[in-house]
Amino acid sequence: MRLSEDFISELKYRSDISDIASSYMQLKRRGRNLVGLCPFHGEKTPSFNIYTENGSFYCFGCGAGGDVITFIMKIENLDYMEAVKFLAQRAGMDMPEETVDDSMSKLRTRVFEANREAARFYYSKLYSPEGSAALNYLHTRVLTDNTIRRFGLGYSPNSRFALTNHLKAKGFTDSELIAANLVFKARSGNGVVDRFVDRAMFPIIDLRGNVIGFGGRIMSDQKPKYLNTSDTIVFNKSQNLFSLNNAKNSGTRRLILCEGYMDVITLNQAGFTDAVATLGTALTTEQAMLMKRYCDEVVICYDADEAGQKATQRAIGILRNTGLVVRVLSIPDGKDPDEFIRKNGDKGTAAFKNILENSGNDVEYRLFKLKQNYDIKTTDGKFAYLSQAVKVLSSLDNRMEQDIYASKLSAEVEVEKNSILEQIKKSERAKYRNDRKNEFSKLSSKISGRDDKINPQHSKKPRATVAEQNLIAYLINNPDKLSFIEKKITPDDFVTDFNKSLFEYFSKRIKDSKEPLTTLSADFTADEVSAIVSIITKYSQVAATDTALLEYINTIKEENLKPTDTDIASSSKDEFDTFLKKLKEKHK
Ligand code: GTP
Ligand code: MN
Repeated sequence: MRLSEDFISELKYRSDISDIASSYMQLKRRGRNLVGLCPFHGEKTPSFNIYTENGSFYCFGCGAGGDVITFIMKIENLDYMEAVKFLAQRAGMDMPEETVDDSMSKLRTRVFEANREAARFYYSKLYSPEGSAALNYLHTRVLTDNTIRRFGLGYSPNSRFALTNHLKAKGFTDSELIAANLVFKARSGNGVVDRFVDRAMFPIIDLRGNVIGFGGRIMSDQKPKYLNTSDTIVFNKSQNLFSLNNAKNSGTRRLILCEGYMDVITLNQAGFTDAVATLGTALTTEQAMLMKRYCDEVVICYDADEAGQKATQRAIGILRNTGLVVRVLSIPDGKDPDEFIRKNGDKGTAAFKNILENSGNDVEYRLFKLKQNYDIKTTDGKFAYLSQAVKVLSSLDNRMEQDIYASKLSAEVEVEKNSILEQIKKSERAKYRNDRKNEFSKLSSKISGRDDKINPQHSKKPRATVAEQNLIAYLINNPDKLSFIEKKITPDDFVTDFNKSLFEYFSKRIKDSKEPLTTLSADFTADEVSAIVSIITKYSQVAATDTALLEYINTIKEENLKPTDTDIASSSKDEFDTFLKKLKEKHK
């Protein structure tokens, strides 16, 4: 069902986008607007803007844009109705009585419920006779009952129907259980069967306390060792972190990033509640940005093996790009934090605390790793090491940091510090040229419209597209000019279909005396909303005069008359003659 226009207006009025965004990120005032580092892509210089005047945001870096509802949808990973509820709760407004969830929201709610019920079921099975081997397994991994309860660990019985039957008896349908990825269609084609069989179960819980998925560990050495919930309508591996729900309350503004569930759980038991892990995939920028909301510093604590070290190098880049301070903890003996703490028995906590405190920063780590690849006693080795080290240092944007490491490097390889600094500058200049080149090619493909996914006609008709966009933005900013505009141009004069539909949409809203932008996020997809806000935002930087308006209209009409190459090739003689006649008339 659709929420009333009045309700959304009131909600938006009470949900100041500046206040709300400020609770997720740092914003600086610039004139009437606010700017900051975009929470939706990694960047070091701010290109995220909040326009207080019309309550919208737009990022010039990644093109994300929208209103306060879109902002909450994106940052809290919610659908439209959930974001409205979220804001209503914050604003102290009751949701309208007649609100019936649309089918998508309804299914999401059901999936959350099924997951919660499944977690309860698995937990109860762990403490039943069937679960004794699993309970024993967790105990031999030195987890206490207290830890097991805190993380809600469980056991999925050795039967294809245990969970299926339990949840069906509770009223869940096959399609709800399939949507939750708790079951899958039986190969025989009849009904559904459990996905997790005879495994120790690790529920994955989001920041609002919902169970969104599971990891299940096999207790033998069969494969796969861990089976995880596939992505579902409530679970996206690249946008969540295991145990962030606990870590966010640790009060440290630091997070310890591990590879596995068991590392996080053992660290928690040892008192390090700020540990989190990715969900069996490589770290993503989205996860880094999520972390940034709860910490200023990340200590990477991946496995000591080669794969873990490779992943560390990669994670350093991603985290640094998000503006986080990064440290790297190397496990001195044992393969991962879990093993290390267990090996140290009673002294586990103290031993880990010690290596945590002594963990170096990311630059030290990268230089140390680099050095291992070269024999710096030879001239060749020294030179190769230096040229790679210079690259690392030139990627730092802090001069002081560069200077400190240049000194260290100079002493280490016995090369004058000044010539190292000279090389750093050179490498920076090359990088600068390269960045500019990339920026330029990005910009030119933007101008040509080649990367416009929302309006695919943009690249074929760039002149018309821009004029249409300007006209639409003008109309939104000057709704009183609608009747004047309508006398000069009709939707059919529009060249591109997407812009035509926008023109019709906004004209209708204005005619119905509705504020043009109120229900944007209900009426368009997230990508479309971004495109629309981009149109409005860019327009506010060009002149909004009546002369300009007439120019937009003329350009659109002119472009409309121009046939495309294919039109000409396939036109009949009559069509072509009519076209020529029209052109002649126009130029009289
Ligand atoms: P333990 O042997 O139980 O201590 O596991 P671990 O936490 O040390 O796991 P490992 O370092 O082998 O893997 C780290 C993480 O990768 C796990 O927590 C899982 O999320 C994921 N993972 C491990 N094995 C598999 C697998 O076979 N399939 C999938 N999809 N993910 C896996
Ligand atoms: Mn392990």
